Amino acid sequence: MTIRAVVKGVGHYLPERVVENSYFESIVDTSDEWIRARSGIERRRFAAEGETTSQMAATAAREALSDAGLDANDIDAIVLATSTPDLTFPSVATMVQSELGMTHGFAFDVQAVCAGFVFALTNANALILSGQAKRVLVIGAETFSRILDMTDRSTCVLFGDGAGALILEAAEGTGTTEDRGILSADLNSDGRMREMLYVDGGVSTNQQSGFLRMQGNQLFRQAVGKLAETAETALTKVGLCDDDVDWIVPHQANIRIIQGTAKKLGVPMERVIVTVQEHGNTSAASIPLALYEGRKQGKIKDGDLLVTEAIGGGLAWGAVALRW
Ligand code: UT7
Repeated sequence: MTIRAVVKGVGHYLPERVVENSYFESIVDTSDEWIRARSGIERRRFAAEGETTSQMAATAAREALSDAGLDANDIDAIVLATSTPDLTFPSVATMVQSELGMTHGFAFDVQAVCAGFVFALTNANALILSGQAKRVLVIGAETFSRILDMTDRSTCVLFGDGAGALILEAAEGTGTTEDRGILSADLNSDGRMREMLYVDGGVSTNQQSGFLRMQGNQLFRQAVGKLAETAETALTKVGLCDDDVDWIVPHQANIRIIQGTAKKLGVPMERVIVTVQEHGNTSAASIPLALYEGRKQGKIKDGDLLVTEAIGGGLAWGAVALRW
């Protein structure tokens, strides 16, 4: 008997405030045209004053629970990916746990920046396969607007806020790639490239939350190759190839990276879920938000083979292959 971690529900949350590219024309030397051409972003959402990562995460989680027909007491564990927690500690995951009224089980955060959701999914899968948990709520939630330097045009135009959630449940499979659920994962990191994307503040350095700093074009050069390679690796681990893929669900950093990766994988853009134009880069939230959109728009159907891939600060990157 093979145990699989199968998707039972999906949820999302986007803050109300929509920020169009034109807003940035009034605060830095940029243009709607540059932002669209270089990144594909048209607008993004920013959290309201006082709105926190845990609140957004809890709203996405409630929607995922309702989609799955479950309540919080049916969940054994929460794994939450974020780089923008409410507080240095405790984890956002424990805040969500109490917000949902869940008084048992365990909850913890995973921090792998934009690759966070892929790392969280992989950890949740391992918890299920090892018998530690039967149902896991996996969340990606970010308030990147709080760490943007609004005088730095090379970064402030790129990011947005939001949250997405998935529920994974243990189910019996046959051990073949026809099974529903997570089929394989591939995780990587290389700390030598940490200066390409980092936040210049932290507890043990300057006791500040700091601002995001990025060498965008250097990171861009790394992204396409690493993303295509990790997606291929995840697929080949279980004997699948690019032709088997129904949907690529990429991290939404830049439309040119998304297109370049799809091209390298030989998958046409019609089979790629794209939300970057509406959400900007929401870091660990971008993949679950894209999964939610793909499902809502009727693109992702039961039984479809998906590959998710993401890269971000660390550098950390990875991919998960799953059958919905
Ligand atoms: O999610 C985590 C992972 N993040 C990523 O993967 C992001 C990867 N990088 C990117 O998406 C792209 O590199 C960017 C969108 C950040 C930038 O695009 P690019 O084509 O690599 O542009 P660039 O950084 O090489 O900059 C080109 C020019 C520069 O001017 P000069 O030096 O050529 O005169 C920049 O100063 O564009 C300038 N520039 C801007 N101009 C107008 C940079 N930001 C802006 C801006 N508006 N907002």
